[in-house]
Amino acid sequence: MNLDGQTLVVTGVASGIGAATAALLQRGSATVVGVDRNIPDAFAGTFVQGDLSTPEGVAAVADQVPAGIHGLLNIAGVPGTAPWQTVLAVNVFGVRDLTRLLLPKIADGGAVVNLASNVAAGWAERREEVARFVQAADAAEAIAAVADDPEVTGNSYRFSKECVRWLTQVQASENLGRVRVNSVSPGPVQTPILEDFKKDHGREKVEGAVSLLGRAGQPEDIAAAIAFLLSPQAAWLNGTDLCVDGGLLAHRSVTAMAPAAA
Ligand SMILES: NC(=O)c1ccc[n+]([C@@H]2O[C@H](COP(=O)([O-])OP(=O)(O)OC[C@H]3O[C@@H](n4cnc5c(N)ncnc54)[C@H](O)[C@@H]3O)[C@@H](O)[C@H]2O)c1
Repeated sequence: MNLDGQTLVVTGVASGIGAATAALLQRGSATVVGVDRNIPDAFAGTFVQGDLSTPEGVAAVADQVPAGIHGLLNIAGVPGTAPWQTVLAVNVFGVRDLTRLLLPKIADGGAVVNLASNVAAGWAERREEVARFVQAADAAEAIAAVADDPEVTGNSYRFSKECVRWLTQVQASENLGRVRVNSVSPGPVQTPILEDFKKDHGREKVEGAVSLLGRAGQPEDIAAAIAFLLSPQAAWLNGTDLCVDGGLLAHRSVTAMAPAAA
């Protein structure tokens, strides 16, 4: 992969998938601008420390990103063990607003990749609510407005990633012919967030999935998919989602059909 001359912004660079993606892009000679609330232990590019949970924090990060970038990788995210308001603020509005602010700085032919999740595969069932939430003018008001909706507050991580799936289509549609926008939906990946997922989604469910697959995904598995979506080989992929889960969703879909077929 030759990314010489490309400047790419990677959020969540201090850990897990963000750190692995930055390392992969740098091996391809890209210039990486890393963003995170935490200072990374090992990252050699330009680092912008910032908090993507508030509009002010997002704006401060965007201000520090130079013009003439070639891509934005929205990888920072928080699990459902964080307060639901934080999950929605970072995973939905952090992604939406950082992308809005940086799109004018992305050169024609550039790309955005958003991190969704395979838990969001059923997003279309909540399409209208998701669309309404994503397009709200004021993030704090939108978050306050769902406080009495247990479907959202009790499943904030899943809902946030369902929003990312729709947001990806909206951003792709608004930038046709100029900047491609796609999402990646991992299954369980061996990063610090995985322990939180076990608490949120159920230890047996997550560990059962890993045992079925023979291993958890590794950050490098996801980084490779992200890098592909950035590449010229993915030039006609736009507004779509790449599920990178070792076949977990496919298996669940097939086994769910088995009793009816028997
Ligand atoms: N690991 C998995 O199993 C898995 C599965 C599906 C989706 N994902 C998604 O992949 C992405 C990366 O997750 P990961 O597994 O690398 O997790 P991780 O916890 O290792 O990394 C997340 C990074 O995001 C940063 N971050 C969180 N809140 C922030 C904020 N307010 N401002 C700035 N930075 C912030 C953290 O500091 C951290 O460095 C997330 O969006 C996550 O939801 C992960």
